[in-house]
Amino acid sequence: MDYHNKLVLAPMVRVGTLPFRLLAAEYGADITYGEEIIDHRLVKCERRLNEILGTIDFVVKGTKEVVFRTCCAEKNRVVFQMGTADAIRALSAAQIVCKDVAALDINMGCPKSFSLSGGMGAALLSKPELIHDVLLILTTLRRNLDTTITCKIRLLDSSQETVELARRIEKTGVSALAVHGRKVKDRPRDPAKWNEIADIVASLSIPVIANGDAFEYEDFERMKDATGASSVMIARGALWNASIFSAKGKLPWDAVKKEYVRKCILWDNDIKSTKYTVKEMIIHHSCLELAEGKAVNKSDTYKDLA
Ligand code: FNR
Repeated sequence: MDYHNKLVLAPMVRVGTLPFRLLAAEYGADITYGEEIIDHRLVKCERRLNEILGTIDFVVKGTKEVVFRTCCAEKNRVVFQMGTADAIRALSAAQIVCKDVAALDINMGCPKSFSLSGGMGAALLSKPELIHDVLLILTTLRRNLDTTITCKIRLLDSSQETVELARRIEKTGVSALAVHGRKVKDRPRDPAKWNEIADIVASLSIPVIANGDAFEYEDFERMKDATGASSVMIARGALWNASIFSAKGKLPWDAVKKEYVRKCILWDNDIKSTKYTVKEMIIHHSCLELAEGKAVNKSDTYKDLA
């Protein structure tokens, strides 16, 4: 995987499933992350070829529950993001998917309570003794797998602490580091601190993927200039209009929404995840209380949704 000068679709729970990743790539995303999947779930899965859809599915053994779905078309750009607090379990889980994806990313930045209570995500960055666990997870994956390994973090309390952490992460041999320019306590509306991402870029040799507050195509260059980062990663800007990745300019959001639903039907996406994503688009651009929003809320099937 090459992480220089790339536009990256960020990992987003319930959003970053196969249809959304393909949509973002069609508009110009070079690298597309899947939603974070916890190692506990992945270790229960087996790999199945889905001959009807032409996909590779990772399904909970003995059930029809698809935990991760991918296809050959995205093999060279899809990143599997894992939530984990344990090196051995992370390795067992990674071995199940690593041959079918372009890279594996470990999420060290999730501030949500389920991650923190499981000792995952940002919890791993919260205490110096736990940072040892982060490094162990990354080193274990690097030594035992022939796959590109990366890591995504948030900022720590001081820029100096984040730089120190980033340097230690770099020493594990990861290929790139994604940095969300917010601290655990920051709200999504607080501005991302591009200057603190710049401090990290200046201290590392590996590519840094800068993340936070890119909402227009023009922001990608601004962010690269301000941070010195090799690549930029976009979450909400893509969720609200995936054509943000297009150099030709954004398409109307409702055309993008329609294409997203079409792809969800084609790839048999989980309807709950489709509804969540469509609702997020509507909330941002319109209002859930209007007729369309109400209809989406009520829909149980793809027939209703379409
Ligand atoms: C996220 N984010 C996130 N981060 C991560 O590492 N793994 C994940 O699964 C998720 N899930 C997720 C879902 C949704 C709906 C949103 C909006 C965000 C955080 C995301 O990747 C990113 O770091 C932040 O949203 C900041 O980037 P933007 O939104 O300013 O471009």
